[in-house]
Amino acid sequence: MKPIKVGLLGIGTVGAGTFNVLARNQEEITRRAGRGIEIIAVADLNTARANELTGGKCKVVSDARELVNDPEIDIIIELIGGYGIARELVMQAIANGKHVVTANKALLATHGNEIFAAAQAKGVMVAFEAAVAGGIPIIKALREGLTANRIQWLAGIINGTTNFILSEMRDKGLDFDTVLKEAQRLGYAEADPTFDIEGVDAAHKATIMSAIAFGIPVQFDKAHVEGITKLQAVDIQYAEQLGYRIKLLGIAKRAIVNGTEGIELRVHPTLIPSKRLIANVEGAMNAVLVQGDAVGATLYYGKGAGSEPTASAVIADLVDITRLATADPEHRVPHLAFQPNAMNDINILPMSEITTSYYLRLNVVDQPGVLADLTRILADATISIDAMMQKEPADNETHTDIVILTHQTQEKNVVAAIAKMEALSTVVGQVTKIRLENLS
Ligand code: NDP
Ligand code: HSE
Repeated sequence: MKPIKVGLLGIGTVGAGTFNVLARNQEEITRRAGRGIEIIAVADLNTARANELTGGKCKVVSDARELVNDPEIDIIIELIGGYGIARELVMQAIANGKHVVTANKALLATHGNEIFAAAQAKGVMVAFEAAVAGGIPIIKALREGLTANRIQWLAGIINGTTNFILSEMRDKGLDFDTVLKEAQRLGYAEADPTFDIEGVDAAHKATIMSAIAFGIPVQFDKAHVEGITKLQAVDIQYAEQLGYRIKLLGIAKRAIVNGTEGIELRVHPTLIPSKRLIANVEGAMNAVLVQGDAVGATLYYGKGAGSEPTASAVIADLVDITRLATADPEHRVPHLAFQPNAMNDINILPMSEITTSYYLRLNVVDQPGVLADLTRILADATISIDAMMQKEPADNETHTDIVILTHQTQEKNVVAAIAKMEALSTVVGQVTKIRLENLS
């Protein structure tokens, strides 16, 4: 059988990795796929660099539309990123009957429903293993390996840049900007790094996983998104003293609120007990913890970003698509794991309705009665305290920090209690609130 012909759009960090790994492991990959996989053309704005990277082994053009409209090409790999030209190219490739492989989580989390519907109608695949957690085969695990389970929740460290920043700041005492620059240099960060540090990239990935885990459409607009830019070093230290580590988690979870089922979909800094395996995932590494009713908890760990780790996932998708011609095409796996006519319409819950535990840090005047006022407010809001820590004030210091860990409660109770705390004359400034998940 002749090799399947591929057009690569964008030969940057991931595109170059894909080109190199495919060339290096061609023989082994062909044995797995049952047919050769050949990149016959590359499109990139920087044709000089593209020519250098491909070493004259394939055609190089600057206009990606040429490849999308080339009848010779069977599969388009979209590695440009963003939702502008990438969306247009992906939709045109599908309209032209080509399969698509993409690592573009931003595109899928925002326009996935339209893209998957178009692909379904055309009978082509849109494969996106690389879009979530880079090299970790979490899409395959959720869509296929865990297919027997009713997924109850998943929680993941799914942004390498922010995990790298949090680890380096804690371990080496480096400042935020220095570590972010290093993450950019290493190719982990998005073209717009605010997507990483403000939690948007993690929310894109959590949105895609929520769709696959629960059989719901992708709904990025309903995700709660909170990054690490407001996180203070003092909270990282207090959390450590209390036996917790702070990680940026993407969480998708089934919940029943007032007798109705909903989905919590949220990204925010989260305290996790230090003894949990996932709390010890450091640097740019990613990990996703999935709780299924039959299997229990499973943990997937590996490199979530970088040139060749991400290429590993891109090429796995290429092989899957190639196998359509070498295996029975009737047995394809649906894009979002569930059959398109069996999707559920469960609501994404507003943040006020979610249930979790909380870390609260207050700066207070060190005088009698302050603690009593705070505990009264929590008791009135039916919030139970799990642990409390008061720092010894420094000499001549009239203020001190109080840290409170709560048991599980609804977000709206905590928000109301914080408003009352902040209204006390003895509480200085704003109360720092970080959500805490025991993940047990
Ligand atoms: P890069 O910026 O390194 O690469 C993008 C490439 O596309 C560049 O070479 C760029 O050229 C080229 N390009 C831009 N616009 C066009 C266009 N209109 N036509 C043709 N080529 C174009 O990005 P990455 O490789 O890092 O990321 C690619 C995708 O993979 C993104 O969706 C990203 O979110 C995703 N991803 C990235 C990971 C990583 O570790 N980097 C991990 C997982 C997913 P020029 O440089 O000249 O602008
Ligand atoms: N910017 C992303 C990260 C790349 O840091 O994890 C992988 O999706």
